[in-house]
This record gives sequence, C-alpha cells and structure tokens, in this order.
Amino acid sequence: MTDLDQMKTDLLASIGDADLVRLEAVRVAALGKSGSVTGLLKTLGGMSPEQRQVEGPRIQGLREAVAGAIAARRAMLERADLDRRLASETLDMTLPVDAAPMGTIHPVSQVMDELAEIFADLGFAVATGPEIEDDWHNFTALNIPETHPARAMHDTFYLKEPRAAEGGQNPPPDGDGFADAAGRAKHMVLRTHTSPVQIRAMQAAGGDKPIRIIAPGRTYRSDSDATHTPMFHQVEGLVIDKGITLGHLKWTLETFLKAFFERDDVVLRLRPSYFPFTEPSAEVDVGFSIVNGKRVIGGAEGWMEVLGSGMVHPEVMIAGGYDPDEWQGFAFGCGIDRLAMLKYGMDDLRAFFDGDVRWLKHYGFAALDVPTLSGGVGA
Ligand code: DAH
Repeated sequence: MTDLDQMKTDLLASIGDADLVRLEAVRVAALGKSGSVTGLLKTLGGMSPEQRQVEGPRIQGLREAVAGAIAARRAMLERADLDRRLASETLDMTLPVDAAPMGTIHPVSQVMDELAEIFADLGFAVATGPEIEDDWHNFTALNIPETHPARAMHDTFYLKEPRAAEGGQNPPPDGDGFADAAGRAKHMVLRTHTSPVQIRAMQAAGGDKPIRIIAPGRTYRSDSDATHTPMFHQVEGLVIDKGITLGHLKWTLETFLKAFFERDDVVLRLRPSYFPFTEPSAEVDVGFSIVNGKRVIGGAEGWMEVLGSGMVHPEVMIAGGYDPDEWQGFAFGCGIDRLAMLKYGMDDLRAFFDGDVRWLKHYGFAALDVPTLSGGVGA
C-alpha cells in the first residue's frame, strides 16, 4: 500500500466515526491551509512534468475523496441532529396561553359587531359602498335636489377633480362615471352619510327582490367640535318588500334598541320630521332616566334623539330601480359613535380618533370577546 493509499484509509476511517466537532478538526488537519493533503498538493509545483502527470491525479483524487467523505458525513450528522431535535422539541398547542393578548377592539368596531349580530338575527345582511361617492348616489338618487342645504360646501367634502365612481358595480345611469345625464362633469364627494348604500343595494338587487340590509361605515362632513368629527360612523338600515308599513319600522327599531342597550324598558318616541329620501319621515328619540345624576337609557324621564328614519320615498325607489306601486320600504340612519358613547359612557367624541393607547386600553374590548346574542352583545 502506498503512502497515499494509507493516508486515504486513515482519513476516511477518522471521518467515518467523527462527530461534528471532530469532523471539523479532521477537515482542518487534512484540507486546511497547512493540512496534510494541502501539503501534498503544494509538492506538485516542485515536480517534473512527467511526475506531476502521475502524481497530480492521485493527489487530487485523494483530496476529492476526503472532501466528499467529509461533506457526506456532515450532512448525515446534521440530519440526525435535526431529527433528534424535532422528536424532542414538541409544542402542545392545546395548552392555555398564559400571556394576555395585547391590544383591544375599538368601541366603534365593537358596536359595529354588535349591530351586525343583532340585525343578523332579524335576517339582515351587511352591505357596503364606496367612501368616495359620486354626487348622484350621495344626493340626487336620494331625492336631494341641487338646492338642498346638505349639498353646501360647508359640510360636504368635494374632490377637486370629477372622476369615475370607485368600487361601485352600479354606475349612475349615464354609465361613464364622469358626466351626469345632462353631460356635465360629475363631482365626487366623500360620502356624507351611509344612505347612498340604499341606492347601491337596490340597484344590485335588480328591482324585483326583497331587501334587508344594514350598512355600517365611515362618513365625512366638514365639522369638528366635542360631538362632531370630520370622519364619523353611521349605520344605514333598509328594508324593501311588499306590504311594508311604519309598524314594521317601529317594531324593528324597538327590537334593535332593546337588544343593543340590553334593557327591556327602552321606550321609543317617533317624532314627525323631514328627510328628502323618506316620506313620511320620523326622528326617533329614546327615553332615559337619571340615575345618580347620570343619564341612563331606559324609562322616560327625558328624551334623546338617536336616529332618523321613514318610509322610502317613491322617487328613491325609482332611482334604485323599484316600482313604488308594487314595493314599499323603510329606512333608517344612525350615528354609530353616538350609540357607543351612550352605551359605554364616553363623553368626548374626539378621543375616539386620537389613538391614545391609555384611552384604548380603558374603553377597548378584549379581542376574543366576540359579541353574541346568547352571550350578551355588550359583554
Ligand atoms: N342620512 C341621514 C343623515 O345622515 C340619516 C337618515 C335619516 C337615514 C333618515 C335614513 C333615514 O335612512 O330614513 O343625517
């Protein structure tokens, strides 16, 4: 056996039973800068060409054999190590979590979840519409004529450039989204209320099906004080069917408000009012009592306005594609932030949107406490 063969046998033997640490030592001793195999490679320079032709391939062969054996051994050891770790490091996913979850559900989100839960029980689906709305859906289709004060610059945010409606599958009748029926450029607005979702829901239903939806979401008006913020939240309700009356409206609102405030002694008062999109229209007050100097919903010591409502105006039915001689409907609109303030006792609306972690911690809800009718919607 030549020296080279002997060296190869010895090296492969020590590689064969090395652990990872030992393997590295063998590698350095053989292939490192001053390793034995590296040393042999260096001798090639001093050989005659004939000798090199014979020795070169032998020494290279030795180097390759050793490097290959080391790589194979290392891969094998690492795989075995991983298998051992995978077998020992088990994690029991069924064990309870001991750290409390960080973060809370904002009262507005909480109330929206409560509304969805309450109305789902009454057979209502949740509908949505774009926050950047066209003039037609936000005003015209809702029977709000161009001269109506709601259109005035002081409370509507207009977008500078007229543009196409966003996100709506139901563009206004002119179709192109840029011009109204008379060919005038159409202005886009930040929707001033959730009522345009009524029109979108009617158009989507095609004019021949009953509708029961609520549409919670963001709305915008240029207004700011302790009870108004430029962005606020509303929920719209819409029922379209045959034979719908004011009685259905009143029962629905009563059932909703009793469930929402979780009290059976909630009393409603419907006051005749005016909205362009309903006829007749009613503002709805809810009775409160004074307990320890504070207003508490329930009883009838005083009245607080909570929402606007009415029977859907025939013009609105027509704009939505329904025949008002065949179909009737009721609608209501309600400020969500105000509902949250009344139920959970906050008195400054602006704090809702400050993002102050202390406020959120205090008024926020546990993330896993999903409101359910059985468990209590305000739990
Ligand atoms: N859109 C009205 C507002 O923002 C609220 C409202 C009133 C909505 C009466 C309705 C309704 O659907 O019937 O002030």
